[in-house]
Amino acid sequence: MDEFRILGGEPLHGIVKVGGAKNSALPLMAASILTDQPIRLEHVPRLADVDTLSLLLAGLGVESVRGTDGALQMQTVDETPIRAARELVRQMRASFCVLGPLLARRGRAIVPLPGGCNIGPRPVDLHLKGLAALGAELDVVDGDVVARAADLRGAAIDLGGPGGSTVTGTANVLCAAVLARGETILRQAAREPEIADLGHCLNAMGARIAGLGTSTLRITGVGELHGTSYRVIPDRIEAATLAMAAAITRGSVTLDGVIPEHFGIVIDRLRETGCNVEVAPHRLRVAADCRLKPVEIVAEPYPGIPTDVQAQWIALLSLAKGRSTVRDRVFPGRFQHVPELNRLGADVAMAGETALVHGVARLHGRRVTASDLRASAALVLAGLAAEGETIVDEIHHLDRGYEKLDDKLRSLGAAIRRTATAPSQMTNAYHRTVTPTCGP
Ligand code: EPU
Repeated sequence: MDEFRILGGEPLHGIVKVGGAKNSALPLMAASILTDQPIRLEHVPRLADVDTLSLLLAGLGVESVRGTDGALQMQTVDETPIRAARELVRQMRASFCVLGPLLARRGRAIVPLPGGCNIGPRPVDLHLKGLAALGAELDVVDGDVVARAADLRGAAIDLGGPGGSTVTGTANVLCAAVLARGETILRQAAREPEIADLGHCLNAMGARIAGLGTSTLRITGVGELHGTSYRVIPDRIEAATLAMAAAITRGSVTLDGVIPEHFGIVIDRLRETGCNVEVAPHRLRVAADCRLKPVEIVAEPYPGIPTDVQAQWIALLSLAKGRSTVRDRVFPGRFQHVPELNRLGADVAMAGETALVHGVARLHGRRVTASDLRASAALVLAGLAAEGETIVDEIHHLDRGYEKLDDKLRSLGAAIRRTATAPSQMTNAYHRTVTPTCGP
C-alpha cells in the first residue's frame, strides 16, 4: 500500500492542467450499456474507479479499451449478462449506475445494493422509486436489487429527498427514461454539471432530453440510441482542491482547462477569505499572500458548495485567522477527517453537525490516515502547509478520484513523494481504518 510523504511549507507556483470529471465519466461509461454501437469517451481520467467500472462492465458484456489517443472506446458485445459482480459493486458505489441502463436496454438487472460507506448512510430508495414509477418491478433479494421491466413507460417523478436530489439516482432514472415509451418529467432532478454532461452525451446518442442543468428534465422516449464520441467535462472537484492547495500554501497557481462557472461558489468563498482569484475562459489563477479570513461554509447540492470539497475547506480554514463554521447538508456526518486534521494541530470541534474551526497559526506534520477520498485530499492540503513532514497513509482512497495528484503538486513545487507503506505502519493503519470502504 502507498503513502504520501509531504514536507510542508513550500508555496505552490505554476500552471497545472485539470483532468476529466470522475463523477461524469463513471455514469457516462455505464450509459454505454444503452447501445450496441461504439461509444468513444475523451478526457476520461486514469483512476482506480474507472478501472473498477471497466471490469464490472466487462462482466456485463461491454468492452472498454484506451485508444492510442487516450480516449476510452467502449462497445457492448454481449447483451445477455444482467448480473453485476457483487465484489465490484461493493468496492464502488457509482457502479450502481448500471441499474437504469441494464433495465432499459436488457429488460432485467440484478445489481447488489452498494451499502453504507465511510461518509455516512447512502440509501438508494430514490433510485428505486424513480425506476418503479417507470414501470419496473423491483425486489431486494439477499442484498441484490432484482429488477424487471417488460416495457418502461414515461411518468412524472419527483426525485427530492432529505439531502436534496440524488446525483446517481438522477443518472439511473434518466438512463432508463430515455428508452421508455412516452414522456417522462423528472422533478427535483440533480442539477450537478455531471448530470447535464450525461444528458448531453445521451442526446448526442439520439435521446431527447430537455431542461438539462435545471431541476426539471423532460424526456421524450426513443426506440434506440446510437454510438457517439463525447468529451467529459473538467473535474470541478479536482479544480477546487488544487485552488485550495494554492491558497493554503500562500502560493499562486493557474488552473488550466477548467469551467470556472462549475465551481463559482467556491471561487466566491475563496475571495471572501482574501484570496485573489482571476477568472478567464477555461483558466483560473488563485493567489494568496497572507493569512486567510474565516468564512461560513455550508455544503449543499449544486449550485451550492459541493460536499466533495467540504473536507478540503476545513483543512484550509484550520489556518485562517479566526473562527469558521462548516456544515454539510448533503452528508451531515461526513466529518471523519476532523480527528486526523486535529492530529496535525488543527483546532476543530464538532457542535452537533457543525464543525467549529478555530484557526491556528501553524500545523505540525505527523502520520495521519485517510478514511475516504475527499478526506485524503484534505489531509494532503494540510500536509502541504504543515511544518515538518506529514505522512498520509491509505492513499488508495485518493487514487480512486485524483489522477496523479502527487505529480501535479510536485510540478507546482510541492515536496511530496509516494512511498510504499512500511509493514509495521501498515498494521497501525489497518487498525485505525473505520470500516471497509465503499466510495464515490
Ligand atoms: N439519498 C437518499 N436516497 C437515495 C439517494 C440519495 O436519501 O436514494 C440522499 C443521500 O443520503 C444524500 C443525498 O441524497 O443525503 C445526496 O446523495 P446522492 O445520491 O446525490 O449521492 P451519490 O449520487 O451517491 C454522488 C457522487 C458523490 C457526491 C454526491 C453528492 C458520484 C459517483 N458520486 O453520490 O461523490 O458526494 O453525489 O454530490 O457521482 C466523491 O466524489 O467523493 C463522492 C462521494
